[in-house]
Amino acid sequence: IPVEPFDLVVMGATGDLGRRKILPALFRRFCAGQMPAGARVIGAARREMSRAAFCDLVAEAVREFSPNQAGEPGMLEGFLGCVDYQAIDARGPDGWEALAAKLSPGRVRAFYFSVGPSLFGELARRIREFGLVSELTRIVVEKPFGHDLESARALNRTLAAQFDESEIYRIDHYLGKETVQNLMAVRFGNMLFEPLWNSQYVDHIQITVAESVGVGGRGEYYDRAGAMRDMVQNHLMQLLCLIAMEPPAKFEPDAVRDEKLKVIRALDVVPPYHIVRGQYAADPQLPEGPASYREEVGNPRSTTESYIALKAHISNWRWAGTPFYLRTGKRLVARSSVINVMFKDAPHSIFGADAGRHANVLSIRLQPNEGITLHVTIKEPGPGGMRLVDVPLDMSFAEALGPGGRDPADAYERLIMDVIRGNQTLFMRGDEVEEAWAWTDPIIAGWQSRGDVPKPYVIGSTGPNDADQLMKRDDRRWRGINP
Ligand code: BG6
Repeated sequence: IPVEPFDLVVMGATGDLGRRKILPALFRRFCAGQMPAGARVIGAARREMSRAAFCDLVAEAVREFSPNQAGEPGMLEGFLGCVDYQAIDARGPDGWEALAAKLSPGRVRAFYFSVGPSLFGELARRIREFGLVSELTRIVVEKPFGHDLESARALNRTLAAQFDESEIYRIDHYLGKETVQNLMAVRFGNMLFEPLWNSQYVDHIQITVAESVGVGGRGEYYDRAGAMRDMVQNHLMQLLCLIAMEPPAKFEPDAVRDEKLKVIRALDVVPPYHIVRGQYAADPQLPEGPASYREEVGNPRSTTESYIALKAHISNWRWAGTPFYLRTGKRLVARSSVINVMFKDAPHSIFGADAGRHANVLSIRLQPNEGITLHVTIKEPGPGGMRLVDVPLDMSFAEALGPGGRDPADAYERLIMDVIRGNQTLFMRGDEVEEAWAWTDPIIAGWQSRGDVPKPYVIGSTGPNDADQLMKRDDRRWRGINP
């Protein structure tokens, strides 16, 4: 859908997120012809810098993070024509009037807070104080949205003091991923699955978000967060909601968000024996290989988890008795995010015990190699009698949509354009974030009070053995982590 000319102010534009994600995403939308003539991208940060110097920084970021499009003749120059810069002081009056003068009346003005949450309040106040607010103002904030329930509530109050909830866009970039939205299309666009989507037919659900990277240069942040705060409270929680929620009446912001909220509210407290924490350890076979977690974050006694597996229950009519197993970790064997819906066995085998039995599995691959596989049972070919085998009905989105087909926009491209369009469906509402923290907080408090120490797992493995035991105790197994 085309958008009207807009002003997007990226506060903290020179930071890591700005360089890696926001500016390249805007550039790709420009290349796709979605930035209307006259749209402006205004970088704002503390550093005094000329427009030309900022353009150099943008060009460098775009060349590094969008190399394909950056090579297209004229594109980069065209995009830089939309770019401007204004130095501002978040904690004082400097620069704000000049920034106000750069904004055009009557258009959408989005302020992207690509800064630490401690500055949200200051920025929000100054935007109002210096008259930068119009009828069409939108505020975009990034995770981490708080560290726990109390800090998330404080952030919500801070933003609510200046802006209406309908003006606040809280990004969880997983919601912008093409396949994550496909979860909703598969569930609610087909007759096939929804009648079976409940505890009567589904044995359990596995949600795996495995990463092969380590914490890299984000050690300081990560060591205070850990996998629970960094991934489970937000990304995995959102996946769980989309898989488990009731069908919303419409694909509209509050209809969808109301249903997600109900799922989070129905989550049981997770007891300690349903959780496994892990921390990656160097592989003794590879003395030159990647460093351990503790070495990477520079904290030899760290008890922060880089891996977590847990079993969650949703106490409602649809899911009573169906466990949801969630796991995520860094430095695992592969980068692979998959949701496996594991159906129950057929109630009775007419072929006898020797024929074998296979339960249906619906695997939804979120990344990489996005697609869906439905495992179905058929007769083993050949004259050997009635033996059953499990075969995949496999669909890769890239293949199904054809070669040279649409190149799916990345999460940030989609989400930024949704901000401009004023569509909040793929953004988290304040109460959703708070409820997710309300579920997470007691788990983390439990670890702290017990002095819990994560189990080591070797870099490049599938995680600690205890995570396998978590399944084994229930007579179940994780499906493999395959790239
Ligand atoms: C971020 C986390 O939100 O998501 C990172 O802070 C993580 O630790 C990243 O690596 C994963 O995102 P993606 O899109 O690479 O799956």
